[in-house]
Amino acid sequence: MKKIVAITITATIALAGTFAFSASHGDAKALFEEKCGLCHSIDRPLAKNKDYEGWKRTVDRMAKKNPGHISEEEAKTITEYLAAERGM
Ligand code: HEC
Repeated sequence: MKKIVAITITATIALAGTFAFSASHGDAKALFEEKCGLCHSIDRPLAKNKDYEGWKRTVDRMAKKNPGHISEEEAKTITEYLAAERGM
């Protein structure tokens, strides 16, 4: 019985670690792919290079096309991601 408890605790800690990792590293990319791949392919933004202000304008413009789809907080995360990945 003790062994099962120990295994469960170990598995829980390992899982928690995985979530903490993806939350800090994979989140922005996943969010971008989910939100920006709805109406066109994500290749559309990925084919462009813009500075932070340029991406902010684009993301805000896209967000307005489908109100409620991208929150202000999500728009900021996506803008930062694109400025880092596709900046100029
Ligand atoms: C509700 C549908 C919709 C969503 C969601 C959407 N787009 Fe668009 N996007 C469009 C349409 C329609 C066009 C073509 C017309 C235009 O440019 O306004 C477009 C064009 C673009 C262009 C080319 C024009 C330009 O301004 O450079 C880029 C880049 C782009 N989208 C990026 C994004 C990004 C980044 C996101 C996520 C934040 C996103 N889109 C989400 C509908 C959408």
